[in-house]
Amino acid sequence: MDKRKDPYSPGAGRQPFALAGRADDIDEFEAAIERIGDGMDARPLVFYGLRGVGKTVLLRDFQKRAAANGWLTAFVEANPERSLRDMLGDELKLTIAEMAKPSAGESALRALKTIISFIQLGVDSVGHISLGVDFSKADYSNAATGDLSGDLTVLVRDLSAACEKTGKGVAMFIDEAQDLTESDLRAINMAAHRASQETYRFVAVIAGLPTLPRILADINSYAERLYGYRPLAGLDAESSRIALTAPSLARGVEWENDAASLAVSATGGFSYFIQEYGSAVWRRAEASPITAADVENARADAIKRLDEGFFRSRWDRASETQKEYLRAMAADGDGPSSTSEIAKRLGVNPTSLSPRRASLISKGLIYSASSGTVAFTVPQMAQFINRQVPLGDVPFGGV
Ligand SMILES: Nc1ncnc2c1ncn2[C@@H]1O[C@H](COP(=O)(O)OP(=O)(O)O)[C@@H](O)[C@H]1O
Ligand SMILES: [Mg+2]
Repeated sequence: MDKRKDPYSPGAGRQPFALAGRADDIDEFEAAIERIGDGMDARPLVFYGLRGVGKTVLLRDFQKRAAANGWLTAFVEANPERSLRDMLGDELKLTIAEMAKPSAGESALRALKTIISFIQLGVDSVGHISLGVDFSKADYSNAATGDLSGDLTVLVRDLSAACEKTGKGVAMFIDEAQDLTESDLRAINMAAHRASQETYRFVAVIAGLPTLPRILADINSYAERLYGYRPLAGLDAESSRIALTAPSLARGVEWENDAASLAVSATGGFSYFIQEYGSAVWRRAEASPITAADVENARADAIKRLDEGFFRSRWDRASETQKEYLRAMAADGDGPSSTSEIAKRLGVNPTSLSPRRASLISKGLIYSASSGTVAFTVPQMAQFINRQVPLGDVPFGGV
């Protein structure tokens, strides 16, 4: 069918037509903002799972809901190259414009000053905000001590106070949180901890790889009790079916039952694969309803697209010796793999592999699943690796 009308959305962070199977998560978030709106407390949330399960699109969906309720929102995608203060600063700059209204009350002006001190903007760069307030008088509430934990807590406190009158609140979303530094994560833990003690009008929603709960708890042991932890995994059969069929149904194209079952089982319920298979089948099929034969015909396209995009982009990040390590892991399928077993397979001493493992973790290709084990950050990576021609098997030195 016409690729111009393809309703599927394979790709990192691309909002799907139907956010299937997440009703409980959405309800949890909506309950949190309603409670906070009513002056009660609510748990900050941590979502964790492999790449491609749908963490980013879920957080973006929450952000839209919060904004539609009149909340202030800030969304940060952590990046090892930048500090949390900088990244939050970019978001907060947008908020300044929103908050700087002539009608702004005292608490809003105070919050504005706090934002400005937190961002450590030069007074000149906010000179255009004329509210009859002299920002050059350095009477900022102090969110610029340089200690992010304290500064972030002050920021949250003042933003919360500014929301008191309206019955709204502030929602902070942090994606890829495993990439933040320890001190940035400590600041988030502390601000969220303080917010729940003081019933600030604030909720933090954090997402990252499956290691995230452990990382947070290693920094502050109270993190175990502070957050509501919600694992995100593949969708169940019913939700997978909805994710697969709803986008085309909206365009008047139906799926025969066995066609949908076949495609769902090929994807293992994994959100990213559902989008990629849906799209490949859409482009192959000629008419409604989509049949099992259409799915079979599109299978090779879907695998090719996944191999060339989703998997290849990760594989190519690894050096040759790192690829050897990944190949040794692939013998265990989706894993996890024991690090000592990997060493045995490669015929080397386990400690000599530590740098390789550390580098693969920092490249986001594997994670330490539990002590002494590692696993791939994306599902079916092992199958992809096993589809590649092992180096030694390329005849006559390769092509
Ligand atoms: N609940 C869902 N239903 C249908 N498709 C989804 C769902 N969640 C995510 N997707 C799709 O899966 C892919 C990966 O989503 P993304 O949020 O980027 O995952 P993650 O952040 O966990 O790596 C995207 O193509 C997105 O459209
Ligand atoms: Mg993501």
